[in-house]
Amino acid sequence: MKIVVVGATGTIGRAVTQALGSRHEIVKVGNTRGDLQVDITDAASIRALFQRTGRFDALICTAGKVHFGEFSKITEKEMQIGLKDKLMGQVNLVLIGRDHMNDGGSFTLTAGVLSQEPIRYGACASLVNGALESFTRAAAVELTRGLRINVVSPGVLVESLPTFGEYFRGHEAVPGARVANAYVKSVEGLLTGQVLQVL
Ligand SMILES: NC(=O)c1ccc[n+]([C@@H]2O[C@H](COP(=O)([O-])OP(=O)(O)OC[C@H]3O[C@@H](n4cnc5c(N)ncnc54)[C@H](OP(=O)(O)O)[C@@H]3O)[C@@H](O)[C@H]2O)c1
Repeated sequence: MKIVVVGATGTIGRAVTQALGSRHEIVKVGNTRGDLQVDITDAASIRALFQRTGRFDALICTAGKVHFGEFSKITEKEMQIGLKDKLMGQVNLVLIGRDHMNDGGSFTLTAGVLSQEPIRYGACASLVNGALESFTRAAAVELTRGLRINVVSPGVLVESLPTFGEYFRGHEAVPGARVANAYVKSVEGLLTGQVLQVL
């Protein structure tokens, strides 16, 4: 399969490309690095990306920023960061990408454990992750041409503990290789409309 991985240069993206790379043609997409670049917050940039990739069989997104901050001080503008980047960035990859995907292809998006388990400073992430999970269930029932969609919802990665560990005290961290398996299951299996939790 030809698989476009948006966020391929990141922590989860690297684990995913490693898991799939021996069996498939991977187009590694980053924001500043990778084979190709895109800014998922900009629909024109997404359209330009798909002109360059050509048609593909699967699209994985492991990119998307949210704002972390104290709830008593969080502003609408800070909430909008997550809505524009992690939520609408991934939604637009589906809305624009479906016309470039071969019949029977699949989308695999990324949410996260905060949809189910809130933490301090995590309101924006919880909002966006929950929306991505609902969007996935809804899109799956209306996608045509045999297209599928799933979302992986991982706990904090072992590899990310140096950066995020202090926010996730008491959480069981999951190895990147185990998280990557959920993307493999989504792409190489037949599931659709599923939230693949890796906790
Ligand atoms: N890491 C965790 O523990 C964890 C757990 C649960 C959920 N998640 C979620 O998983 C996603 C990825 O996390 P991560 O830790 O792997 O992130 P990361 O290491 O920071 O990597 C981010 C990736 O996204 C790309 N990117 C950044 N801004 C972009 C933009 N505007 N348009 C397109 N690509 C962009 C980066 O490209 P460049 O390298 O070129 O800048 C990079 O490939 C996030 O949404 C995060 O919330 C992460």
